[in-house]
Amino acid sequence: MLLSYSAASPSRTISGTGHQLPLPPSPKGWPIIGNALDMPLEKMAQGYAKWGRDLNSDIVSASAMGKVVIVLNSIDKALDLLDKRSTKYSSRLGFDYFFVMLPYGDRWKERRRMFVQHFRPADTSIVYPQVREFVQRFLGAGYLPGKMEAFTISLAYGFSIKPRGDPHLEFAEATVKMLAEILTPGANFIDALPILKHLPAWLPGASSNRKAKELSYMSEKCRSAPFDEAVSKFFRRNNDEAAAYQKQVIKDTAAMFYMAGTDTIVGSILNWVWAMLKNPEVQARVHAELDEVLKGRMPDFEDQEKLPYLMASLMESTRWVGFTPSTLPGVPHMNTEDDVYDDYLIPKGSIVIANLWAMLRNEEDYANGETYDPSRFLTPDGKIDPGVRDPFTVAFGFGRRACPGAHIGRSMFCLVAASLATLFKWTEPLGEDGKPIDQPMDYETGMVYQPKPFRCGFKVRSPEAQALFANMEG
Ligand code: HEM
Repeated sequence: MLLSYSAASPSRTISGTGHQLPLPPSPKGWPIIGNALDMPLEKMAQGYAKWGRDLNSDIVSASAMGKVVIVLNSIDKALDLLDKRSTKYSSRLGFDYFFVMLPYGDRWKERRRMFVQHFRPADTSIVYPQVREFVQRFLGAGYLPGKMEAFTISLAYGFSIKPRGDPHLEFAEATVKMLAEILTPGANFIDALPILKHLPAWLPGASSNRKAKELSYMSEKCRSAPFDEAVSKFFRRNNDEAAAYQKQVIKDTAAMFYMAGTDTIVGSILNWVWAMLKNPEVQARVHAELDEVLKGRMPDFEDQEKLPYLMASLMESTRWVGFTPSTLPGVPHMNTEDDVYDDYLIPKGSIVIANLWAMLRNEEDYANGETYDPSRFLTPDGKIDPGVRDPFTVAFGFGRRACPGAHIGRSMFCLVAASLATLFKWTEPLGEDGKPIDQPMDYETGMVYQPKPFRCGFKVRSPEAQALFANMEG
């Protein structure tokens, strides 16, 4: 990619004052189109981290045709802006389909409030039983870590999903896939710059306009079909306007579950399985800990504290891969007022990206960040070290738009991982010559940084595990 850097960034006028201030440092860019062609479309998070290194700044910017993208490469910068100044930084680009993308305002507040009221983190009585049931049924049927949509649909609508041939499941899978495609970084930037929508379809991201229409159709169907089936349980026939509006809010909020909660959990589990495959000594320690603590039974939520090494391995895979939506600018924030920070202007309407990947690789918190090493989270006597920053406090985002399903995602991740490791061991696939096949890890660059399919031997690891597996519902 042709890219040059400038020390001095373009400046802008603060609305209503006449004062000029520079934008945060940025690549030099091109006349008229600014940095549009400099935006890294592949490996975005790494590309933005490199801008930060080259420009020697944790806050960098790019602009094109009046639109400004701000990238925050450090936790402190993200906390300063997205958390401490959240009144200004809590909007989104404004897609209309799901509340994750709604601009700041009453429609977003109603949906978020409903979500949070129903799934209070302190109240585990709704989430834990659903997670347990899902793990039992879908692991028993051999459908884990896939089919996570079944869990999020059950959670949202309160009815069970069949592991095989369920129409809700099939449609949800297709919609989640399309949502991930449309939220690729390129598509987002194109959306921010309407003129670029007229680019030929062969340019990266240019086909997003057509996809947006398809997504609009699918998202409506996705919201309606399971909702209509579930709604009769909650509402008597009532056609007044208030009830209709309330139904719409519930419908949108429920649909958000499997849009936002599916690929994220699957991604976290797959990344962890990959880490186990590539680090057999860590896998062996996880197995040894489970054997010592569980003594031949399946794990449950209460076991988490007794399994610090397993927990550290989950924290480390979350840090190591940094897979989450804001790692890639799938769900950037947007500021609703001009702001001045570090003597830079952040103009109203900027797309503000928290580069979680860069944050979770920072060497101050995590020395030798390239290395997968769960021990970094442990004290010398093997407990979780409260002095090391927990990557989950970063992975779910910042401020008012931080993930409201964090406790659900984390619970599911922990129980699925513990259950899988109780039953299985993972081995490298062998080629015809009997040697392990060389598989470099590659990632989908959609909304969620998820591994592309990889080959991995899944073997039941002992006669005790075989007996447990045979007892699971399928
Ligand atoms: C390991 C699993 C998960 C991860 C890593 C994750 C991560 C994130 C991140 C980084 C954001 C954006 C935060 C920001 O803008 O600063 C987000 C937003 C969101 N997540 Fe999650 N998430 C996970 C699971 C879930 C689950 C299970 C649900 C629902 C059941 C969920 C629902 C949402 C919603 C509704 C939003 C949008 C919030 C808003 O815009 O107000 N997430 N998530």
